[in-house]
Amino acid sequence: MSILFLKNEKIFALHTKKTTYEMQVDELGHLRHLYYGRRVSGSLSHLYHPADYGFSPNPYEKRLQTGYSLDTMPQEYPGCNQGDFRVSALVPRAGDGSCGADFCYESHEILEGKYTVEGMPSAFARETEAQTLIVKLADPAAGLELTLYYGVFEERDMITRAARIKNIGGQELTLEKAASACLDVPFGDWELLHFHGRHLMERQIERIPVMHGIQTISSRRGASSHHHNPFLILAEHETTEKYGDCCGVMLVYSGSYRLDVEKDQSGGIRVVPGIHDEMFRWPLTPGESFQTPEVLLTFSHEGLETLSQNYHRFIRKNICRSRWTEKKRPVLINNWEATYFDFDTDKIISIAREASALGVDLLVLDDGWFGGRNSEHQGLGDWIVNEEKLPGGLNRLIEEVNRLGMRFGLWIEPEMVNEDSDFYRAHPDWALTLPGKAPTMGRDQLVLDMSRPEVVEYLYERIGALLRNHRIDYIKWDMNRNMTDVYSRALPAQNQGQVFHRYILGVYDLLERLTGQFPEVLFEGCAGGGGRFDAAMLSYFPQIWCSDDTDAIERLTIQHGTSFAYPVSAVGAHVSACPNHQTGRTVPIDTRAVVAMSGTFGYELDLNLLTEAEKEAVRGQITRFHRYADLIREGDYFRLENPDDRLPYLAWQFVSEDQTESLVNVVITHSRGNAPLVRLRLRGLDPQAEYRLAVFDVFGAIGNPESKEAETPEPSGISGGDALMYGGLVLPRLYGDYPSVQIYFRRL
Ligand code: GLA
Repeated sequence: MSILFLKNEKIFALHTKKTTYEMQVDELGHLRHLYYGRRVSGSLSHLYHPADYGFSPNPYEKRLQTGYSLDTMPQEYPGCNQGDFRVSALVPRAGDGSCGADFCYESHEILEGKYTVEGMPSAFARETEAQTLIVKLADPAAGLELTLYYGVFEERDMITRAARIKNIGGQELTLEKAASACLDVPFGDWELLHFHGRHLMERQIERIPVMHGIQTISSRRGASSHHHNPFLILAEHETTEKYGDCCGVMLVYSGSYRLDVEKDQSGGIRVVPGIHDEMFRWPLTPGESFQTPEVLLTFSHEGLETLSQNYHRFIRKNICRSRWTEKKRPVLINNWEATYFDFDTDKIISIAREASALGVDLLVLDDGWFGGRNSEHQGLGDWIVNEEKLPGGLNRLIEEVNRLGMRFGLWIEPEMVNEDSDFYRAHPDWALTLPGKAPTMGRDQLVLDMSRPEVVEYLYERIGALLRNHRIDYIKWDMNRNMTDVYSRALPAQNQGQVFHRYILGVYDLLERLTGQFPEVLFEGCAGGGGRFDAAMLSYFPQIWCSDDTDAIERLTIQHGTSFAYPVSAVGAHVSACPNHQTGRTVPIDTRAVVAMSGTFGYELDLNLLTEAEKEAVRGQITRFHRYADLIREGDYFRLENPDDRLPYLAWQFVSEDQTESLVNVVITHSRGNAPLVRLRLRGLDPQAEYRLAVFDVFGAIGNPESKEAETPEPSGISGGDALMYGGLVLPRLYGDYPSVQIYFRRL
């Protein structure tokens, strides 16, 4: 039993393999948070001490007992305006304009399996993988019922949470904020790790002390965004990759969100994750409910490495629903950086022919195949093939691609429209625009009003017809601007505060239906690269294009940051041309492949322009990818180093779950004269087992050809897992720009 109710003390204890989460119903019925940390047995009620900090108000019943205050008590889901001055989880506005909520326990249920979240993607459990705790609380005077959901995945060390708020009063009320959960952490010296960025540079790690006051990680862009990922980690000051306490909070949501982190007067930390409350107003008539998105919590006392691995496994096994998640992905060629909008059938076929000869499995036709789409200024929304570019239509092209032994994939951007399109001319009111104002443009396009069911229905028909009428094995689903002018022409004034959230519910509805109806199609998500890289999207898309920056050296930090939360199986990555189109940098083609292989792997360049030597290299890369694909996709991922200006290389490692094989990758990011030797201490091996170094591939020159230095010998032979982990291995000195190494071990 992973969920226990200790009757005498009214404590709920949620146990996973290595963690415990405890809360207690107190004498007034408040649901008090006690503990989230390393697994313990028994009650932790002694951790809560009522203490008077002054200026912290008391519930009426406790007016003579100053230590009891909601302002200082760790809670599971704080209301508002009733004594807790920290960040609220819920702000309800009653019909008479009053605003206040203070929830007390009513009942609870413990169920086998995992609860579901209505209208939004959420984690799922197989058979006995999870248990659910449902706690019902209420504030009858405010006319509110609060249902808290806890999913406990014992083997995965994951706890999921969500909330549902119901109007049980006789009058309409409005939610001005409705967060998913609250995590109070009363003790410890915590730092905040979050993942910020921009287009072409997503998920850069920043680690900062949690300061007194409120730090907010958020997006008001209508998408989870390139700029701040909906994910954070609290790590104790001394926590590293391998040691120490840390706790992750991840939203399963793709729209505007906020994650508030508050350090209060006593040094306690509160984290409140949920939908962004700016421009959010959700009316509830009597009997109606509001469902929040889900949050995934994990805790590790063994450092950040374990925390990340918990998320990787969980996302692969309990979030991604695609049949493709655990399957080897096709090696693809995408024409975007090869041609941009300038292509025709002959050009595409010439790329396909070369790709097929080199062993590529699937050709993706990117933007520009439809309507009058010859630049970003027109055609978006007209999902009809452009026969001037592609005479004979898609089917002819697909037949030719299939004849070359390859499968076919297609780019779409369903949520958007150009003003210069037949679709927009027919439905100008289907875009989000503000009354009487010229719309704000992004990439010269407008955002469709996905809060309108008829828009979702139309797209379902159009995209469904594309998939039905053509042999399409793969879809790249793009979203190339953020939302502004958020106003729906279909909703009355009092419902305009719903548009942001209804938009994303519309997207989920469309994705739910299309991915459900075409389960054999591999869907890849994209939003100008990684602008919507979140757990909710991963529920539909087993992979997401990680960044529009395809420079292998830039990708090292982007993929490194991404790895804190998301599995490598989800990271879309391609080998592109050099000089690189985003940075102008030139990186050896095999190093580009080493980096792209730590993702779903593919190519995005005109293969006809490669030299014979480069084509030979591509053949070798594809062979290596096939050899390592299962290990990379499903193995445990270890960051052997963190990117650091002083460190001239980056290294990372995969180890199969049964510890029988391992792949180590190293890229030299900064070649130096007289460079200190690189010693790598491996992770995750069985210390008692012996490993044979089966492959040692160096992509670049060993040693400076000008120097008379005796060469450092290449590592070889058989070593103990303990020797490789505790002693490590030393690399020969490499020479030139951006050389790389792949080392493959097999257990004897
Ligand atoms: C976005 C994507 C690119 C490409 C273009 C096409 O920027 O991230 O990969 O598909 O759109 O317009």
